[in-house]
Amino acid sequence: MQDFNHLIPRSYKTDFKIASRGEGIYIFDEKGTPYIDGCSGALLSSIGHGNRAIIEAMVRQLEQIEFAHPSRWMCPAVLEAAEEIAAITPGDIKNVWFVSGGSEAVESAIKFSRQYFVERDGVNSSKSIVIGRWNSYHGSTLGTMAVGGSMPRRRIFSPLFKEFPKIQPHYCYRCSYGQSYPSCGVRCAHELETEIKRIGPQYVAAFIAEPVVGSTVGALHPPREYWPIVREICSRYDVLLIADEIMTGIGRTGKAFCVDNWEVVPDIICSAKAMSGGYSPVGGMFVRTPLAETLRKGSGSFIHGHTYNGNPVTAAAVAATMRFIRENNLFEKAAVMGEYLGKGMERLLDNPIVGEVRGLGLMRGVELVRDRKSREPFAPSAKAALKLTQECLARGLVVYPGTGQADGIAGDQFMVAPPLIVQKEEIDEIVNRLEEGLKATAEALLP
Ligand SMILES: Cc1ncc(COP(=O)(O)O)c(C=O)c1O
Repeated sequence: MQDFNHLIPRSYKTDFKIASRGEGIYIFDEKGTPYIDGCSGALLSSIGHGNRAIIEAMVRQLEQIEFAHPSRWMCPAVLEAAEEIAAITPGDIKNVWFVSGGSEAVESAIKFSRQYFVERDGVNSSKSIVIGRWNSYHGSTLGTMAVGGSMPRRRIFSPLFKEFPKIQPHYCYRCSYGQSYPSCGVRCAHELETEIKRIGPQYVAAFIAEPVVGSTVGALHPPREYWPIVREICSRYDVLLIADEIMTGIGRTGKAFCVDNWEVVPDIICSAKAMSGGYSPVGGMFVRTPLAETLRKGSGSFIHGHTYNGNPVTAAAVAATMRFIRENNLFEKAAVMGEYLGKGMERLLDNPIVGEVRGLGLMRGVELVRDRKSREPFAPSAKAALKLTQECLARGLVVYPGTGQADGIAGDQFMVAPPLIVQKEEIDEIVNRLEEGLKATAEALLP
């Protein structure tokens, strides 16, 4: 165990491995042992580790200029990165606001929604409420926790922020209404309309959701009607639709953005993580042109600045990442490899603690249960997700665990989301190691 006399680590109780080097889908520890990065860090190392094209582009930018303050200077790299992003965003979402991470991107979207209605309708606009969903994660700042519904991550901080209303997610495995798809008529999507009417549409500025729920429920994909329904409801009630694509964006589900799977154009997309392939901290808020035009023709600026709005070195990483993705057809490859991974993971259902295998593209999840028939989760004290993670790590595979999805306290799940450059044989290896890790976990946890 390391001595943490000066650094505050993510956890004082974790015995961290030393990451000494990365190459492709592998991370090597200090002894040179390779681990498959089976979750791309946190679904960001999509183009793999040690990519020379990105490193060289960043060095070239550093040699020109490392920083020029965005309120006075414009760097060509930042314009180029915005152009690259606008080339892959859906519909008329063509206006890009760069920040340094996912939480900042969501904070930007919340504030942008409010400012848009003030600019459009006047300073007395009553539209300010953002509706979120339970069991969703949108970031760790106060504003993003207010719209997020991931209880383990926000419980003790809730006295610090103004709560926003939430609706139930499309959690079919544990449906809040005790119904089944498709006979339910996707009630969870229609509940958005009920909530908007309850609050009063004149007070509602936006609805935010992850197209496939990531860390909090483990690659929970929606019924295919869900996003078209919420799009229609938002349009009908003059409510902005914000897609939090911080995990799902940039090819993760086999399309540039996850909403492309259902040909839905939201009003705002929040992105981060894979935009720079993990080579530089980044986030982005992408908005429909008519929304950006309202600010351009109105006050002329978004009242929301960060020192690192459009950092040129990050921008060079973003542009190089987008070029690499395009030249290597990585969105198309992710769709093919995602299908292959999904098929391979069906085998895991033979394990008695696997309740559900779900997901889309190269974003797959497994829900662990104590009893498959009743879907009863493990007691939190069993630490099932942690145990599984350790068993996989012992077999050279990194996965992304999460807890609390069943009732806010109990529930264990994990995600498998390898880099988009993953090959078929590597997926076979990932599934084999998962199978072994799950077997050992079941043996340890079941009577
Ligand atoms: C869906 C979603 N939104 C927002 C965030 C916050 O991003 P960051 O950790 O970069 O602030 C995350 C991070 O995992 C996320 O998965």
